[in-house]
Amino acid sequence: TQSLRLGVAGLGTVGSAVVRMVERRAATLTDAAGRPIRVTAVSARDRTRDRGLALADVAWFEDPVALARSGEVDCVVELIGGAEGAARATVEAALAAGKHVVTANKALLARHGAALARAAEAAGVALAFEASAAGGIPVVKTLREALAGNRISRIYGILNGTCNYILSRMELEGLTFEACLKDAQALGYAEADPTFDVEGYDTAHKLALLTSLAFGSEIDADGVSVEGISAITPLDLRMADELGYRIKLLGVAETTPAGIEQRVHPTMVPKSSAIAQVMGVTNAVTIDTDALRELTLIGPGAGGEATASAVVADIADVAAGRLVPAFGRPAAALVHPRRAEMQRH
Ligand code: HSE
Repeated sequence: TQSLRLGVAGLGTVGSAVVRMVERRAATLTDAAGRPIRVTAVSARDRTRDRGLALADVAWFEDPVALARSGEVDCVVELIGGAEGAARATVEAALAAGKHVVTANKALLARHGAALARAAEAAGVALAFEASAAGGIPVVKTLREALAGNRISRIYGILNGTCNYILSRMELEGLTFEACLKDAQALGYAEADPTFDVEGYDTAHKLALLTSLAFGSEIDADGVSVEGISAITPLDLRMADELGYRIKLLGVAETTPAGIEQRVHPTMVPKSSAIAQVMGVTNAVTIDTDALRELTLIGPGAGGEATASAVVADIADVAAGRLVPAFGRPAAALVHPRRAEMQRH
C-alpha cells in the first residue's frame, strides 16, 4: 500500500510536535490507518532555527502555497495560524489541488469554514479540524460522530488554555496578569497575538465552530458576544473567593426561543462545581443533550503535544480514508441559527 504523504505547513510549537509524533508513532499509526504515514514536505519561515527535528529526507518549501501544490504531498497539515494570509492561501490552494487538509486553525475556520467545507466536498477530500477546538479534547469527533442521535440544547466550557492558566495562577499564586501571560507564551500556549486569548476572541472562534457542529447551523463568529479577561484584577479574584466562587472565562451556546445564543465572558462559578476544579491549561466542555443529559469532556486545551494528539488523530482518519463531512453534514445543509431554532419550535 502507498503511504499517505504529509506536507506540514508551519513548524512552531504544534507543527514540530506533529512531525515528531508522526515519526515516533509510525508503527502504531500504520496499524491504525492501514498504511504508512510519512512527512515528505515542510515549510516554515525560518529554515535555520533548530527545532530538534530530523528533516534530512524531507522537501523544504519557503512558500507554503507551493508546498500545498506540490506533487509530493497528499495531505496538507496547516499549522500556520491566522484567519487570512498564508494560512488561508495554503488551505485554499490545497483544496483546489485536490489535497486533504488537516488544520488546527480555529480563526480561519470561524471566518471561512463553510466556504472551505464546500471546496473540500467539491474536491472529494477531507477538511479535518479536531485540534482547532479545545486542543487535545476530541470534542469535534464527539459532536460530529458520537452524538448523532442526540438533540443538543446547550454546549459550554473553558475553551482557552491561556486564559484558564492565567486565572488559575493569579488566584493560587497571587501573580500578576502580565507575569502569567508571559509564562503562558513561554510554554507555547498563547496565540502569536495573545490579544486573541485574553480578549476572548480565540474562545469565540472555537465556540462558533462547536455551535455549528452541535446545532447543524452556519458558523456565525460575528454572532458571538465577547468579553475577555484583561480587566480581571487580583482583587476581583479575591472577592469571588471570599464569596465562594472562582472566575472562569466561559464560552456558552444555547438554544433560546429567539434562536441560538452564543457568548463569551468571565463567569463566577461556585467553587464546589465541577468546572471550578478545572485549573491551569486544562479545558472543559459540557454538552447538554436529551439522551445523555450532561456530558463533560476535560483535558489539555493547548500546548504542542496535546494539540499534536488531535492533529495526528485527524491524519490517521485521512490515511484510513474515513472522510466525514467537515461539519458532520454537507456545508450546503448547514442552516442559519435562527432558522434552525424556528423549525424546532
Ligand atoms: N491559544 C490557545 C489557547 C491555543 O490558549 O487555548 C489552543 O487553541
